[in-house]
Amino acid sequence: MITLKEPAFAKINLTLDVLSKRADGYHDIQSIMQSVSLCDEITIILQTGKGWSLECSKPDIPCDSRNLAWKAAVVFFEATGVDPEGISVYIDKKIPSQAGLGGGSSDAAAVLLCLNRHYKNRLSQEALLELGAKVGSDVPFCIQQGAAMAEGRGEKLRKLSKMPGDCWIVICKPSFSASTPVLYRMLDESVIRERPRQTDMERALQEGNLLKIAEHICNVFEPVMASIYPEVYDIKALYHKNGALGVQMTGSGSAIFGIFDSRTKAESLITELNSNGYLTFLSKPV
Ligand code: C5P
Repeated sequence: MITLKEPAFAKINLTLDVLSKRADGYHDIQSIMQSVSLCDEITIILQTGKGWSLECSKPDIPCDSRNLAWKAAVVFFEATGVDPEGISVYIDKKIPSQAGLGGGSSDAAAVLLCLNRHYKNRLSQEALLELGAKVGSDVPFCIQQGAAMAEGRGEKLRKLSKMPGDCWIVICKPSFSASTPVLYRMLDESVIRERPRQTDMERALQEGNLLKIAEHICNVFEPVMASIYPEVYDIKALYHKNGALGVQMTGSGSAIFGIFDSRTKAESLITELNSNGYLTFLSKPV
């Protein structure tokens, strides 16, 4: 038996704009994404001689072909024609689900990266990204990691300068959430009042200017989520009170992230959020 291990990093959307609905039912988006240190740990055992199995440390995660990590393994072995001679995947889940943090996508990406490395890079990076896109719109970014502008339905990537490393990102996961397709539908029926200024964000990243990065974070899904759950704004107010440089919902939510230049301020926010019953994570860009 062979054991492989791989971290699966979460992502945040520094910007997220939804442009138009496409004929295939997806939407064209423009989003600047950044990987963060919050991660799941994936363990893969090959040559188990016992067929396929998947387990997860959290009971609410599906452990069959609905799981993106499973789908990733299926498409990898189909594309390469390799026989794993029995495979068992274990996901130590730290990234909350239904959060907009790309948890499922990053598990899938970690499976693809780890298998491809083990099988001596049979697939090129380009082929791996294409395979990732078949599994989910955010999987290619989770394969590439760092910072990137994602376009199309999220799979067309252009690498950008990463966020400066000397900052802290506080992530808060409220108990409510809304499904991604539902939020896209609500967005189709609403007027988008504020859209991200993508070139300003790209420039801020290039300059490594944390203040400007924080100033330009913007996500068109946030007002839609807040129209159902106004608590989004109460949480954001706690971030501002504790000195966040910028605060925003990530993806289609419901997690909220804030950028800090001081660990002390980040930790005092975490204490306050925890005392209000919220799940929190102290993270850094990776
Ligand atoms: O690709 P993924 O499985 O992550 O997408 C989940 C759902 O989110 C899609 O079925 C679609 O309803 C919506 N979506 C979209 N446009 C995108 C990405 C996702 O409409 N660019």
